Parts: sequence; structure tokens; C-alpha cells
Amino acid sequence: MSADQSGRLRGEEEGDKSKREFLKIAAAISGALALAGIASVMKSVVVPAVPTSSGTPTEFPRVKVSSVSELSTGVAVIFDYPLTNEPNLLVKLGQKAEGGVGPDGDIVAFSQICQHLGCIWGFVAQGKSPTVNPSFVAPSPVGYCPCHGSVYDLLEAGKVIGGPAPRPAPQVQLETDSSGDIYAVGMGPPTIFGHDTGSTDVSDDLQGGTLVTST
Ligand code: FES
Repeated sequence: MSADQSGRLRGEEEGDKSKREFLKIAAAISGALALAGIASVMKSVVVPAVPTSSGTPTEFPRVKVSSVSELSTGVAVIFDYPLTNEPNLLVKLGQKAEGGVGPDGDIVAFSQICQHLGCIWGFVAQGKSPTVNPSFVAPSPVGYCPCHGSVYDLLEAGKVIGGPAPRPAPQVQLETDSSGDIYAVGMGPPTIFGHDTGSTDVSDDLQGGTLVTST
């Protein structure tokens, strides 16, 4: 075999090898994407609320939102509850809080929809400032609304301590089980922003959308 032919053969073998490597990588990537797709579908599975004879759901779902071992102090977890597309913020505050759960009674969650005009507020740790307003320094762990500066005290059941919000942030009722899993099981008053129909019934929170899945 000539040097030329042997070089061509080597080139073809290397070409085949690269092709095989490429196919292997492509298969791995498509497998990973398929798994990610399944995970994302599973995460977003929703069921319609169980309706009463009048068509209105009356019971809050029980949904796992995190576990004690997964949380770090001051790092927020966002989850939809009780309806899809309605964000709530769960956070371990590092100090005992009203309505807090967990070994230290410091894990709380609130509807993140501002009671003023419905913007989404964010968590600001004690002594820190929100990026939108560096002159504000949080006197306690708070929810701070970037739209008009409403401030909710997360140690005190979402009490308004600044800005125009007319009502506290609704607190999510949490439970933990023996393995440390944390569940959302209901919402305290007031009614979540946008759901107030004028009645005092908390089932207002359950109307107008799709309940997240009970787990
Ligand atoms: S919408 Fe939050 S302060 Fe106005």
C-alpha cells in the first residue's frame, strides 16, 4: 500500500471515529433533554380544583414546596400556590418568626403578589438594601416591592411597615412532616391580591384559575 493510500485509510478511520463520538454525544444530549423535558412536565402538572356543586373549590391543596435540609438561611424559594401562576416566597429567616415552622420556627412563606397594585415583591435580608432603592436598609427581614416601595415584615406575619400597601402580605400556612419535608396547606388572610370579591370567605383565593396539584 502506498503512503498516500495508507494516509487516506487513516483519515477515513479517524473520520468514522469522530462520527461515532459525535453520535454518542448527540444521543447523550438528546437523552438529557428528554429527561429535562419530563422533569419540567412533571413539575408543571396541574389538576383542576375539585369543584363543589356550585363549581367553586373550597379546599386548599397540600403541596410539598421544599424540605428543611434543602434550605439555607436568607435564600428564597419561589413556588406557585394555591393557583398556578401565583408566586409565593418561602424563606428561612434565621430567627423565630410568627407562623414559622421547622426546628427553629423560622421558615415562613407569603404570597408574593403585592397588596397595593399587584407587583411582585422580593426578599431583602435584615440590614441589606434592595437594588432598586439603595437608600432603604431593611430593619428586619422584609418583602420589598420595587413598584412603589411597600415593605412587609416577614417576622411579623407580613405586616406592612412601609409604603402604600393597604393590607399585610397573605401568609402561606406551612406544615413539616417527620422527614423535614415542608408543605403548603392553606393561606391565611387577607385575600390574595386580585381575588377579593368582597366576601370574607378565604375560598376567594381558590377562584379564577387552576389549583396546583396536591402531593
Ligand atoms: S404594587 Fe407594590 S407598592 Fe405598589
